Amino acid sequence: PGLAVYDPGFVNTASCRSSVTYIDGEAGVLEYRGYPIEQLAEGSNFLEVAYLLVHGSLPSKAEYDAWVHDITYHTFVHENIKSFMEGFRYDAHPMGMLMASVGALSTFYPDATNLKDADNRHLQIVRMIAKMPTLGAWSFRNAQGKPFVYPDNELGYTANFLSMLFKMSERDYIADERLVRALDVLFILHADHEQNCSTNAVRSVGSSQVDPYSAVAAGVAALYGPLHGGANEAVLKSLKRIGSKENIPDFIKGVKDGNERLMGFGHRVYKNYDPRARIIKQAAMDVFEVTGTNPLLDIALELEKIALEDDYFVSRKLYPNVDFYSGLIYEAFQFPPEMFTVLFAIGRTPGWLAQWLELVQDKEQKIARPKQIYTGERTRDFTPASERW
Ligand code: CMC
Repeated sequence: PGLAVYDPGFVNTASCRSSVTYIDGEAGVLEYRGYPIEQLAEGSNFLEVAYLLVHGSLPSKAEYDAWVHDITYHTFVHENIKSFMEGFRYDAHPMGMLMASVGALSTFYPDATNLKDADNRHLQIVRMIAKMPTLGAWSFRNAQGKPFVYPDNELGYTANFLSMLFKMSERDYIADERLVRALDVLFILHADHEQNCSTNAVRSVGSSQVDPYSAVAAGVAALYGPLHGGANEAVLKSLKRIGSKENIPDFIKGVKDGNERLMGFGHRVYKNYDPRARIIKQAAMDVFEVTGTNPLLDIALELEKIALEDDYFVSRKLYPNVDFYSGLIYEAFQFPPEMFTVLFAIGRTPGWLAQWLELVQDKEQKIARPKQIYTGERTRDFTPASERW
């Protein structure tokens, strides 16, 4: 009984009320808690943005210091988690390892099922934001067959992550400040994006009142899928295939003939320049100043220029999205493509947790349980196997 509206993918259905992130796709606007993404990327840092997303307002100096202190001192994980991660095959996908190890954290923190106590919820949020880079870095080291590097709590959040990824001995790796800043900005840009697939997964699983580690593991699982987290890798593949600027017109013709899509262009919500794409383009320039330029950047710049002037793309409101330049940046950091989504997951964690917190505090929220339009058989008589065969 009751009204069932068929809406696959919830394209027209609001599943919740939320005060975390605002998007106006026609105008190309993205705001976290009312603050434009451009201003946050320019003047804030990832941990301050994480505080903003989770708490709803910017921190005072004392609140910020306590937040950073707490996150810094929760970066270590239990040694058994380390042993667990060491048990994966050498070629295990880092996202599979991340998903499994985040889920495994739930077994180490049985207190996390107490969702009613605000201090307890806060502790889990701090723990998870703190531990994601450790788990992410170790999933990368596993693929390289290198020993896992423990967190260095003398370092800032993003510098510590880079150190756990790339350090070989006590003194051999100090991340360039410009690279640290660029990665921090990328984390800010990915920190939340309202009811995307992975956030919806976190909310859906969280609505059963499971602990937040299990809910976030579901978010990581959703992000693992190529339609959600995988587009930047596809952009790189296209750029490599194009190979040189002279080949761009042929490539564009193929796109217009419907042979393939221009990856990194177009968005379900943004029908204007994705505001994150502008910032990422600048970050790419900053990174290449440190690492030296990549010939693929010239192809990307020319491709963007041509597409933005071409009627096919203009008439369909296809603009560069966040993924058009992010893969180039990650490659400049020497991340293998399988790591791109892990970086996305680390950035998205505060958003998942802010939305989870909103969910568990929302008195109107019910367990996620969509309706269906039943298309199967109706009541028929069962015949036992002895009579059918
Ligand atoms: N290249 C060429 N044509 C395109 C593209 C593209 N990238 N995107 C859409 N179109 C065309 C499409 O063929 C259709 O044309 P027509 O009306 O002639 O049939 C029209 O534009 C509308 O496309 P759609 O598939 O109905 O649009 P959508 O809103 O369902 O798809 C999208 C959005 C992101 C899946 C799509 O634009 C796409 O596949 N882009 C490439 C993949 C990509 O970059 N994905 C990353 C998205 S940003 C990540 C994030 O925010 O999490």
